[in-house]
Amino acid sequence: MKTSMHTIKIENTVLNGKILDEAGATLRQGGLVAFPTETVYGLGADALQPLAAEKIYLAKGRPSDNPLIVHIADFDALQDIVEEIPKEAYQLAEKFWPGPLTMIMRKSDRVPLATTGGLATVAVRMPKHPIALALIRAGGGYVAAPSANTSGRPSPTKAEHVWEDLNGKIDMILDGGAVGIGLESTIVDLSEEIPTILRPGSITKTMLETVIPHVDIDKGLQNVSARPKAPGMKYRHYAPKAKLVIVDGTSQAVIKKIQELSAGYEAEQVGIICTDETRAHYTYGIIKDIGSRKQEESIARNLYAILREFDASGVEVIFSEALDTPDMGQAIMNRLLKAAGYQVIQV
Ligand code: TXA
Ligand code: MG
Repeated sequence: MKTSMHTIKIENTVLNGKILDEAGATLRQGGLVAFPTETVYGLGADALQPLAAEKIYLAKGRPSDNPLIVHIADFDALQDIVEEIPKEAYQLAEKFWPGPLTMIMRKSDRVPLATTGGLATVAVRMPKHPIALALIRAGGGYVAAPSANTSGRPSPTKAEHVWEDLNGKIDMILDGGAVGIGLESTIVDLSEEIPTILRPGSITKTMLETVIPHVDIDKGLQNVSARPKAPGMKYRHYAPKAKLVIVDGTSQAVIKKIQELSAGYEAEQVGIICTDETRAHYTYGIIKDIGSRKQEESIARNLYAILREFDASGVEVIFSEALDTPDMGQAIMNRLLKAAGYQVIQV
């Protein structure tokens, strides 16, 4: 299959209209279109066509028990795909939609089991990105979209990442430049008694609790041996090719430990992920500065791209400072820990 890539400039509405019409028609005919959202690039298919959803699994090499998120562009679209809209969904949508929040509810018969990985619930999100919203409307209103990476690779934060993984396997890529957030949406499960976070993201527990009284965090996220409720969270996602080890402790001790560990390798075989605050202390190895600890948004935005750069550079091992910043730290460390297969050296 030939994959076409189209740059979309927000200001060029005429050109965009033509490309978006074509992309919408591709979705309605059961094809696959990758597109930017504010979190990461998504790989879209019509969520209501079982065969289209199956194509997503094939293109990504994704296990078919791993359900997809259905993206909508208007709140009114929600009622057709869920059994009932829980009151928390109205409250959360009012504050956080469009935006990086996915809500899980009991599904209606309109949503095929191929989309939900066989589950009776469906995950729904209204993204904030204008290209995503326009594409969803052009494509019929319901777009199933996982992150647009090959299963097991870091999620794509630029159209080039999508091209790297999926060229030849999908119909179209809409290139809207680098994404803003860089980590996938927060997932909150509203299908049971207490709203529960199944995947941390830039919308934190504290933020959700400004709207609804109490939110739990899935046990599977806190305890490595418990089974996470979101099927996707059990896989060793976001895995770089090199072995990744996190070093955690006081800044001084972490720097010293990473310097010591790196010395055991040839300089071009070892990668280091550090921050603006510590950069000057490293001189040996391939060093990548992920940003300042005072600007956690930039750490979130750079993480996946840095992991991909290390894949391309062919290092054998990567040592990363722990990146547990105040607000987004839970989401950032969740992705970093998974990429590291939970290998942490405490110093
Ligand atoms: O930010 C995002 O959410 C991005 C963009 C493209 O919107 N999408 C994304 O999709 O991250 P994906 O497929 O890579 O991750 C979806 C996660 C998986 O861990 C999946 O298991 C979980 O959501 N999930 C989906 N439906 C579910 C359901 N009904 N019950 C439990 N977990 C569900
Ligand atoms: Mg994903």
